[in-house]
Amino acid sequence: MTTDLKPLNLRTEYKITPVTDVVKPRLSWELTATGRGQVQTAYQLLVASSSELLASDKADLWNSNKVIGNTTNQVEYGGKPLASRTVCFWKVRSWDKTGQPGPWSATAKWEMGLLNKADWKAEWIGNDLTALGKGKTYQLPPAPFFRKETQLKGSVKRARLYVTSLGLYEFQLNGKRIGKDYFTPGWTDYNKRVYYQTYDVTSDVKAGKNALGAVIADGWYAGYLGYALLVGNPVVRNFYGNVPLLKAQLEVEYTSGEKETIASDQTWKTNHGPIVEADLLNGETYNANLEFDNWSKAGYDDSKWKNSAIYPDKPERKIEAYPGNTIQVFQELKAKTVTPKAGGRYLFDLGQNFAGLVRLNVKGNKGDTITLKFGEVLFPNGEIMTENLRKARATDTYILKGKKEGETWTPKFTYHGFQYVEVSGFRTAPGLEAITGIVLSSATPSAGSFETDNKLINKLYENIVWTQRSNYFDVPTDCPQRDERLGWTGDAQAYIQSATFNNDISAFFTKWLVDLNDAQRADHTYPIYAPAPNVRKTDTYSPGWSEAGIICPYTIYKTYGDTKVIREFWPNMVAYLKFMEAKSKGEYVYKEASFEDISPKGGFGDWLSVGKKTPPDLLATMYYGYVASMMAEMAKAIGKLDESAYYDAIFTKIKQALLTHYTDKTGKFKTNSAAYGDGNGYVDGEMGFDGHTQTAYANAIYMHMLMPELNQKAGNWLVDLIKANNNKLSTGFLGVKPLLPALSSTGHSNEAYKLLLSTEYPSWGFEVKNGANTIWERWNSYIKGKGFENNAGMNSFNHYAFGSVNEWLFDYAAGLKVGEAGYRTFTIKPEIAKEGINEVKATYRSINGMIETGWKKTGSAISLTITVPVNTIATVFIPTTNPATVLEAKKAIKTNPAINIKGFKEGYLQVEIGSGTYQFTSQN
Ligand code: BGC
Repeated sequence: MTTDLKPLNLRTEYKITPVTDVVKPRLSWELTATGRGQVQTAYQLLVASSSELLASDKADLWNSNKVIGNTTNQVEYGGKPLASRTVCFWKVRSWDKTGQPGPWSATAKWEMGLLNKADWKAEWIGNDLTALGKGKTYQLPPAPFFRKETQLKGSVKRARLYVTSLGLYEFQLNGKRIGKDYFTPGWTDYNKRVYYQTYDVTSDVKAGKNALGAVIADGWYAGYLGYALLVGNPVVRNFYGNVPLLKAQLEVEYTSGEKETIASDQTWKTNHGPIVEADLLNGETYNANLEFDNWSKAGYDDSKWKNSAIYPDKPERKIEAYPGNTIQVFQELKAKTVTPKAGGRYLFDLGQNFAGLVRLNVKGNKGDTITLKFGEVLFPNGEIMTENLRKARATDTYILKGKKEGETWTPKFTYHGFQYVEVSGFRTAPGLEAITGIVLSSATPSAGSFETDNKLINKLYENIVWTQRSNYFDVPTDCPQRDERLGWTGDAQAYIQSATFNNDISAFFTKWLVDLNDAQRADHTYPIYAPAPNVRKTDTYSPGWSEAGIICPYTIYKTYGDTKVIREFWPNMVAYLKFMEAKSKGEYVYKEASFEDISPKGGFGDWLSVGKKTPPDLLATMYYGYVASMMAEMAKAIGKLDESAYYDAIFTKIKQALLTHYTDKTGKFKTNSAAYGDGNGYVDGEMGFDGHTQTAYANAIYMHMLMPELNQKAGNWLVDLIKANNNKLSTGFLGVKPLLPALSSTGHSNEAYKLLLSTEYPSWGFEVKNGANTIWERWNSYIKGKGFENNAGMNSFNHYAFGSVNEWLFDYAAGLKVGEAGYRTFTIKPEIAKEGINEVKATYRSINGMIETGWKKTGSAISLTITVPVNTIATVFIPTTNPATVLEAKKAIKTNPAINIKGFKEGYLQVEIGSGTYQFTSQN
């Protein structure tokens, strides 16, 4: 007997063909097989130092031999210790349920990076141009260029470029840009660590003369960050250092076997030229007349360039291989319209709000100056709105050299959040081809899709995806346009589960969780944004934000079966829980105004909610309970059973203390609102505080803070509150995500659908109706015919927090919920809408393979199409009023050996199925 059970999508540390410095990298694969109920009963991994060895099954690095079990991911390499630069080729095969081995997978590989600091021969080199950046409001020095020529002795077998910078870099070899990555090496706490990239440049170098070139810019290291300028912070730029630095080495192995390293040092020549200004927030200025033609090619005369200066390394700063997904071009957008405006301006509409850049195509005279301004939306009078950028100048400037055929320019070291570009300086009316949008995003692989037969909801989903794309930008940012773009922890934790359904965020969060833990404060709280340069002196921590330190690792564990994040950050997480316990003075509840030390007192709370505010201390207490329960689950996952019991007990104490302090006799939430005074310091604080709010019940239910009877009552009160509010939601950043799940899980699916489908303020549909193509920071960021509110304060049109409804779309509308970590098991329990939606289709590529689920309602008939990946088990809840009407592929299911019937309860027939595609139908 043979089996067609075949491993595919082999990945190392979540990536295809990465360079990693994880000494025991984790391997994963997915499985395919025809038929149903297929599982892996054993696997074997072979790792070899060459593809030839591997092809003949000579695993000189590691032969796992046959390992019994169904594990297909998070398998740690267990072979010989790996040295820097080793290329590891690997393959895997799996045994099926009958014990037959399947075919070997295709060959995959990974490469070891530089494991020791001593592998680095390169120095940090720089060119201090700070004196040239003395503007009035903005001090923007030019970007330094570096070059080095080298003579390679013979033909090259292998060449690698290891490169990083403090600041941002672009590297070139023999006139060609290396790699597809932007904003490298990424944002970290540069005092603690900096990442490097590795490029295989074997085909970019040749025997004889070669030239290496690099341009670097301030970036996050030395440029403007966040709202520092806006709030009058004493420091507005240079948060990590004043002078951007480069470190690069080209390692060459000749066919003769001889090796050579060309490393950055003082002999690298440096100059400054066309990039006159380059700043992430404020834009780039390029004077093409100052270009150095062919500067990164051999033979360029650099006699007027000077030697680089060497800067000392910080011994405590780690230099590591980039673990995330670099920022890359996602797509290009053609301009949709160009409209002439008074004063020689032209307005380009790119048709979509996004994060990125434009490519300018222009013909003109030498010295002509083109100015580009960026905006997300237009005023009702058709003019571009830029007030919401606050102090981010977000202006790019190009000075022409006057080339006859025209000239093309794309900035390198800035980005903007925009849909519209206002351009001035054209000599003649430009065509659409003058401006092309370049969409940039961290290249997190696409993982899911969601579609219904309702246009409004499809548009909402599209907007969510665009907003995630715009804000997963090396770190999970709040927004891409204004002077902020920080890794806000509250936004990140509220949205992370939603994000998992759209893209594979495993590598992206592997990186950011390091940033977050690097930023853990001396008192063990997690900061309000990470990385955490203090862009406002008083920025510290906040309940609901800080818990990202627990919620994000937990979500990565649950979604990808990743226990390494738990082990790695366990001491940090424990320390935070200790802080929370101490802060509760051993009472396990935060009474009103417990957080005197932060501003506003109690933290941000249910940020941007509508109407009365939920007391931040009530929310803080629930968050404490929520993360304690996660700690209990994570402790168990890494075998710390005592600690698991300990956190379980704490969770119980918190639940009890919450009831005692914050509920009345009937179980309703209450608060002493006098403790918050006149609400000064809170957004909308003057509307007063109340415990009996949508946000309070939604969170309590979602976080399992209540005993069953009270939970049901809470669900009913939640519905009452929505009704009393004219059937509208009133939730902010912390209340939105749990709102629909809380309704659904207490049997109020119809109310959840009604809120989802509403188009009245405040609702998701209201945004769509008012023209949104991304998710807005405020429910009323813009109203057709009425305009904007709050622009100069906070009015971002690309803010994902309210997009956290995505979680409900997948978990409830499509019905897909993770069971055992990594979707080894999962449930599918679709909630069929009474009206407005007749069809829902979702796909999700889990770490265990592709899951598909879709339902369709035709009169009283329901069809349910489901695909379950090999080696996983799905518990499916088939909606029906009569279990006898349930068929699969038009046949009765009773005698179907692939379907295990579990029972009929509350309008669902529950069945358990293994891998394969199933076509259920039922009557409802
Ligand atoms: C940011 C948010 C953030 C909030 C916290 C805002 O300015 O844009 O998304 O969570 O501040 O107060």
